[in-house]
Amino acid sequence: MPCTVIVGAFWGDEGKGKIISYLALKDKLDFCVRTGSVNAAHTVWMDGNKYALHMVPAGFLYEKCRLLIAAGANVHVAQFFKEMKLTKVNGRRIGIDQMASIIEEKHSIQDKASAFNKGIGTTGWGVGPAVEERARRTAKLAKDIPELKPYLADVTAEINDGIDGGKNVLLEGTQGFMLSLFHGTYPYVTSRDTGAAAVCSEAGVGPTRVDDVLIVYKAFMTRVGAGPLPREMTKEEAKKRGWFETAAGTGRDRRSAPFNFKLARKNAKINGATKAAVTKLDCMFPECRNARKFDALSKDAKQFIEEVEKRTEVPVVLIGTGPEALDIIDRR
Ligand code: IMP
Ligand code: MG
Repeated sequence: MPCTVIVGAFWGDEGKGKIISYLALKDKLDFCVRTGSVNAAHTVWMDGNKYALHMVPAGFLYEKCRLLIAAGANVHVAQFFKEMKLTKVNGRRIGIDQMASIIEEKHSIQDKASAFNKGIGTTGWGVGPAVEERARRTAKLAKDIPELKPYLADVTAEINDGIDGGKNVLLEGTQGFMLSLFHGTYPYVTSRDTGAAAVCSEAGVGPTRVDDVLIVYKAFMTRVGAGPLPREMTKEEAKKRGWFETAAGTGRDRRSAPFNFKLARKNAKINGATKAAVTKLDCMFPECRNARKFDALSKDAKQFIEEVEKRTEVPVVLIGTGPEALDIIDRR
């Protein structure tokens, strides 16, 4: 998997954090590169401990993995230090691109005060206003922040040197494709493109240098905030099916709906997906909980995975069967 891009298929919260943490451990990732900003929480479970990461790359569990924050990312300084403490990551392992921009307290205040953003149901972190500031070319950059000095790096160069050297590089996309500013359910979207190509752009990796795009599906769909969700069900129905979730970042209720094959296919195509993961299969088929082999799945569960492959024309190589990083069926 020399250079792999991870992209969320729907409205975020597909379980990218789990897939990334598994790949870091299993494939001994050399580099894990976080893009996007603090609005996205990537959840990693290990030995009963939960980490909801907004800044630190989700590959942190593998101790030899170099953790990088891309030039196109927006860094929340206080949250960065909070997570450095939480994850107990050695500061020498982490690099922030000097050109990454900074999201400030004022951006969150602007975000929360804006009636327009309330209509969208933003996370309130202020990412939209921070991106606006960057586009106006008045943003602070990581290199302007004295506390970040020890971590500053030329992340773009490091990644490209890594690819040249045949290292395992993972580019960690955030949110889901339906929240893309360009391709999602505008205006009910986040403030950036969330597709595979945009992840490469933020990291400074040319499209010919990527080997795999791994699209992450969840066995059902969820969405937080406002905007359309095809075949949305009531909270009661979601609870009955065991699909009811709350957001890792904001604690808000997630709305839910059944898996949408048509959307799954379309988004695999636009992102150029070469591989797929399906998470939370155990929420749909409880008898599959903690299975580690495809053969151990029930007939219905196998049929569902086969249907995903048939309809998307992408092989499902990883299947999540429980919350822990290693609760995975690996078919590679
Ligand atoms: P913003 O990104 O905070 O501006 O929020 C815009 C929309 O994207 C809202 O509907 C949010 O709920 C949604 N959103 C942003 N980040 C995430 C995420 O990581 N997971 C799920 N939804 C998100
Ligand atoms: Mg999330």
